[in-house]
Amino acid sequence: MSFQTGQSENPLVDPQAPRVAPPCAIVVFGASGDLTGRKLMPAIESLALRRLLSPGTSLAGVARTELTDDEFRERMREAVEKNGGGGPDSAQVWEDFAGGFRYIAGNYDDPATYQRLRSVLDEFDRERGTAGNRLYYLAIPPTAFTTVIDGLLGAGLHRPPAEAGFCRLVVEKPYGRDLESARALDAAVHQAFAESQVYRIDHYLGKETVQNLLALRFSNAIFEPIWNRRYVDHVQITVAEALGVENRGSFYEQAGALRDIVQNHVMQVLSLALMESPATFDAQGVRDEKVKALRAVKILPIDKVATDVVRAQYARGWVGGKEVPGYREEEGVDPYSTTETFIAVRLVVDNWRWAGVPIYVRTGKRLPKRVTEVALQFRPAPHLPFAASQAEGLGPNTLVLRIQPEEGIALRFGAKVPGQTFRVRSVSMDFLYGAAFLEETPEAYERLLLDALLGDPTLFIRSDEVEQAWKIVDPIMKAWEYGEAPLAKYEAGTWGPQEAETLIERDGRTWRNP
Ligand code: BG6
Repeated sequence: MSFQTGQSENPLVDPQAPRVAPPCAIVVFGASGDLTGRKLMPAIESLALRRLLSPGTSLAGVARTELTDDEFRERMREAVEKNGGGGPDSAQVWEDFAGGFRYIAGNYDDPATYQRLRSVLDEFDRERGTAGNRLYYLAIPPTAFTTVIDGLLGAGLHRPPAEAGFCRLVVEKPYGRDLESARALDAAVHQAFAESQVYRIDHYLGKETVQNLLALRFSNAIFEPIWNRRYVDHVQITVAEALGVENRGSFYEQAGALRDIVQNHVMQVLSLALMESPATFDAQGVRDEKVKALRAVKILPIDKVATDVVRAQYARGWVGGKEVPGYREEEGVDPYSTTETFIAVRLVVDNWRWAGVPIYVRTGKRLPKRVTEVALQFRPAPHLPFAASQAEGLGPNTLVLRIQPEEGIALRFGAKVPGQTFRVRSVSMDFLYGAAFLEETPEAYERLLLDALLGDPTLFIRSDEVEQAWKIVDPIMKAWEYGEAPLAKYEAGTWGPQEAETLIERDGRTWRNP
């Protein structure tokens, strides 16, 4: 039987051929910052090492810190080394590649900064063959987003100098603080860039296992018939971290778990897990279906927030055998802070497929371990022909999509316990990515950067997706502002407060032990 694809087949294009990015000038705003050193540069270096960037690809770093070109190159080399870069021929590749690095020190609100940038970009086009292609990467605090966009617009750098070139804008999260500010940011972005030029990053979409949600659902016929309210009792989405806020206390104070994880990463995973099949696996097909799924998520009325959402903050406790401070004792955190580091929420998806199937979400810092998963728990068998005592060890059928760590898929089902008596117990059938494939898994940022350079926005968030995610989260924030939900406490190293247990137990269900 042949596998029907929705794509039109072009005999001249081999979908398995390595995808090499066209020559381009990558402009990183926030070049002396943490994200650039920790994530971007190692990803760019790895792409260069794998020969996925064209020769001539150049990089201009822009930031306020005074540095020379050489000092910038040296900093970037150190950052790559520190963050897992390198390889057998890395020194030579780095030499060639870093030759095309330039650094521009300047304030983001100073037109002179953009004039200097323009002359560097012209030089790249002339001397390194970047052909008018530009990828602007905003690795800066969100408060500076619109200043930089205005600067680019003012200098006419928002469009390519030549007809054939492209100009793209990559924006990091958080995209707004609420619906209103996200809309205002979009309005500022769209003054300079068309939506097709905007690449909003959520690094979860760069994770192989998040993309595997689509492969599992839409390349196998066996799951589709049971992926709905008739067979699924409920869904649990867990994004747990063992880490605390580390050195990001002052950033986290302004964010909290709802903005930091639920509005973006959880909503992305949720939409991929619950959406309908796209007709074609392209940017429009996939993103249209994701938005439709998000639109079906019922917006919680403010007066339901107190019952359907639990927010909590970690207190001192033990994680991984080490005593750790409470959130209010962390550096950069207000000792009276009411920022939540944990949230559990019961969502409802109002559409034909999911009506009546609750979606329980929980995320938090300083939980017992790092684990991200989506678990579909199925309805029980309609009738058990055994005595209750024979099925004591039988739990519900569950399909677990493990996003990290130990990436894979597990199916729990009942099996006979070997022996002369008849007893049934739950067992697990496991697929582990690491054991099934020898291929290396690229880092999320590598995948996303390459896609942005190639002009494929499938794994980036469209403006209407961001809006819809804020529409779901906004009433929760409002209710909290009105003091509708008290802040609970949980000991670091536990699975959250008792209130989170009550939230799910009220429905006669329990959280999984992932
Ligand atoms: C980021 C959040 O977006 O995601 C962090 O700002 C969080 O607070 C991180 O730690 C989690 O990402 P990952 O890839 O480790 O699951």
